[in-house]
Amino acid sequence: MKFALLGPSPQFAAHSTKRLLDEARKQFKHVEHVPLTDVVLEVGKKPRALYGKNALESYDYILPRIDSKRAEIGYPIMRYLDETDVMKPYPASTVLVAHNKFLTLMELTKKGIPVPETWITGSKETANRIIDKQKLPIIMKLLSGFGGEGVLIMESKDAAKAAIHTLKTLRQEVLIEEYVPNPGEDIRAIIAGDEVIASFKRIAASGSKKANIHLGGKGADFKMPSEMKEIAIQSAKAIKSRICAIDLVESKDATYVIEANINPGLRGIENATDINVAKRIIDYIHNELKR
Ligand SMILES: Nc1ncnc2c1ncn2[C@@H]1O[C@H](COP(=O)(O)OP(=O)(O)O)[C@@H](O)[C@H]1O
Ligand SMILES: [Mg+2]
Repeated sequence: MKFALLGPSPQFAAHSTKRLLDEARKQFKHVEHVPLTDVVLEVGKKPRALYGKNALESYDYILPRIDSKRAEIGYPIMRYLDETDVMKPYPASTVLVAHNKFLTLMELTKKGIPVPETWITGSKETANRIIDKQKLPIIMKLLSGFGGEGVLIMESKDAAKAAIHTLKTLRQEVLIEEYVPNPGEDIRAIIAGDEVIASFKRIAASGSKKANIHLGGKGADFKMPSEMKEIAIQSAKAIKSRICAIDLVESKDATYVIEANINPGLRGIENATDINVAKRIIDYIHNELKR
């Protein structure tokens, strides 16, 4: 079986990319790290996608790690692969959906999955009117932020409007989201196929409402109750991804999905749970290839 990880070049590869490659090398005879930037797509005659002399069709499975910075080149490669027999965890369209928090929430809502009420609009004035109707705090998010850095939690409407003004001046679209009251924790499930293979909690650093590890949040083992697992599995289906992370927040009366991540980091969850998550992902792929 020929397996390729299609992602950042080795010098930029994060811990998780290396973990997945290490585990893949234990399972598959032929494993290659294909940097997104080294693939050449060609049209004019019959479309082709080449990595050196290898056509991408020569791989049995391609596991993408396409972050939003590389989506502009990653998306056309995935579109090309959509029409080949190469197996992968999701279609090209998922790259666009997952890198846009609003589109993610839209796909989830269409499947009846509970998400915070969220708005997006092109006009400052309309955004201000939406802000006027909100309770405090108000959440605003850049469409493709990660690590908590593109999330603003505004404690006053004036501050929220000022932020909208600045962001729009920079031609930066932003979504406005209802704050889900929660104990400063978010819950992450890693999904492979139809299963939650690992889950953990992230607890926000004191004084912060954002639970990201990147911002000082702490990971803790957390086993999901079965109804929550079901929401996570349905969410992965809604964004058409067989391998991804789904993040949830729990308030007193309900559980909401806040985002999906197609390139989940593995260090935090592997440390918190003692589960070899990279191996479980590769095991899932191995089973898919045997079917
Ligand atoms: N609607 C919300 N209500 C309450 N807390 C939220 C909400 N959205 C985000 N958060 C908090 O902010 C953190 C970062 O938001 P998230 O949408 O996951 O962005 P990122 O992609 O940067 O991680 C979440 O982990 C959660 O702790
Ligand atoms: Mg997040």
